[in-house]
Amino acid sequence: MKKIFVHCFLNEEQKQYLENNFYIKVHNANEMVLSPQSLLERASGYEGIICQGNLVSNKYIEKNKNVLKVISNVSVGYDNVDIEFATDNKIAVFNTPYILDDAVADLTLGIIIAVARKICAGNNYVKAGKWKKNSWPLFLGDNLKNEVLGIIGMGNIGKKVAERAKGFKLKVLYHNRNRLCFNEEKKFSADFASLKFLLNNSKYVLLSAPLNKQTEHLMNKKTFSMMRKDAFIINIARGKIIKEEDLVQALEDKVIAGAGLDVFEFEPVVNNKLMSMSNTVLMPHAGSATFTTRNEMVKLACKNINDYFLYNNTNNLINKMCL
Ligand code: DGY
Repeated sequence: MKKIFVHCFLNEEQKQYLENNFYIKVHNANEMVLSPQSLLERASGYEGIICQGNLVSNKYIEKNKNVLKVISNVSVGYDNVDIEFATDNKIAVFNTPYILDDAVADLTLGIIIAVARKICAGNNYVKAGKWKKNSWPLFLGDNLKNEVLGIIGMGNIGKKVAERAKGFKLKVLYHNRNRLCFNEEKKFSADFASLKFLLNNSKYVLLSAPLNKQTEHLMNKKTFSMMRKDAFIINIARGKIIKEEDLVQALEDKVIAGAGLDVFEFEPVVNNKLMSMSNTVLMPHAGSATFTTRNEMVKLACKNINDYFLYNNTNNLINKMCL
């Protein structure tokens, strides 16, 4: 039987499913996340890893390259693994696309509305017992209707956000590596724009692109200065797309109006200044965090590894070049 190391929570059904064909060792990451170093020290001889979070280092791959065949991510993002290195070592890397798009898009709209309408600041105000007088001048915010949402990264999640944006009568600009075809632009009522045009004109700038060499620190001092002074930056993708110290500076200097962040450059460590500002809305990387979605993600990660080992199935395989 092949051996699989599982770094996530499995329910009974998922456990049973894997145990039908594999020997599994489960580490419940909901209780404690393993560091790459502890994986290196405690898990060797596994042909497969089901992996939630930043776990598999190049050192691990190097040490286990003669045994390890599959890394099955419980996420759509795969910046947690050095894909080139895994490919060179003939290790297949899988992800869990599509099933989390709606949940992430829902949270994105939630964050946009929260920053625009100061929902968290208002919530804190009421709960602190500070509401004593006429609320008419308090917590004045911004509309969504007729404002411009600029989506950087028009993949599956970006498109789901664009669908929802229509309902709020937001106008959508998007910037992407590849321009969508005419029919898709029409379907999402989205206009292609250069990065500069998008930043210059959007009230809400959404980052929904993968993290890679091109997008790392895409938002920095220079690009923040290209945004409107009344604009909000929203990040539901990866923290490292924003150079966080430049964001803090941009907020302090009122270069932009506020930020809604689900991800952070050094998460789970969050910059103290971001935490103390009333014009930031911060979530703990919870884009896909609904009961149903997370369960589906784990299920798919199990299926990906199962079907690859049993049937050579390559659905959701990221690095087909490894074969
Ligand atoms: C993903 O799937 O990449 C999410 O960020 C993990 O929650």
